Amino acid sequence: MTERPVIGIFGAGKVGTALARLLVASGHEVLIAGSPRQTALDLLVSVVAPGARVVGPDELVELADVVIVAVPFGKAGSVPWDRFDGRIVVDAMNYWPPVDGNIAEVDEDPRSTSELNAARNPAARVVKSLNHLGYHDMEDDALPPGARLRRALAVVGDDADARAVVARLIDAIGFDPVDGGALAHGVALEPGHPAFGQALSAAELGALLTPAAHLAA
Ligand SMILES: NC(=O)c1ccc[n+]([C@@H]2O[C@H](COP(=O)([O-])OP(=O)(O)OC[C@H]3O[C@@H](n4cnc5c(N)ncnc54)[C@H](OP(=O)(O)O)[C@@H]3O)[C@@H](O)[C@H]2O)c1
Repeated sequence: MTERPVIGIFGAGKVGTALARLLVASGHEVLIAGSPRQTALDLLVSVVAPGARVVGPDELVELADVVIVAVPFGKAGSVPWDRFDGRIVVDAMNYWPPVDGNIAEVDEDPRSTSELNAARNPAARVVKSLNHLGYHDMEDDALPPGARLRRALAVVGDDADARAVVARLIDAIGFDPVDGGALAHGVALEPGHPAFGQALSAAELGALLTPAAHLAA
């Protein structure tokens, strides 16, 4: 993996385009794939995320070192998980019933939603991150590496090397990465849990990511 991996983002909505701007600004090559329903995406992206390149799903999967999935959780199955073998995949999604509707199997499943997504392809190196930061805060709260009082973002996943790659990305776009260990710990980052949407320091976020803390939440 090069110092600056090529990033492919599925989803050219609020999160996908905010991340594209931050990643382009930090010197990354950014590819972005929209939904088949979106028309004139080249024009949209040239205005809202200049420097990012619109591609189809096949080209994205072929070229990206790191794939970020930023589509509605209820549409997660429409991205090509079967082609993510060995790929670092950042799950930035949240199960959000006002958008996704109530999904009984998800409501009844105690696992983190990223574990449910990871089960779509056990060979993908799934990392949960970015989901606990509102899109409107992504640029407002980003601060350069080395700045004091940076907001922390968690990186959880079962593959330590994949976590390290994503942690470097988080640092590059302006946040303090916190290594939260196993993907199962990501429950603490989900809606209804204390780390969700909160501006926390690395120490504060780290304390919420211990297994005991998320089980108690
Ligand atoms: N909004 C936030 O502050 C925030 C923060 C953190 C995480 N999240 C999570 O991030 C995800 C995206 O949120 P958002 O606010 O960016 O939603 P959004 O503005 O609705 O954008 C999502 C985009 O993904 C598109 N899409 C659907 N299936 C696709 C596919 N297979 N390939 C490419 N694009 C596809 C959608 O198109 P269609 O409309 O045609 O389906 C839509 O344009 C959600 O899971 C959300 O819970 C949101």
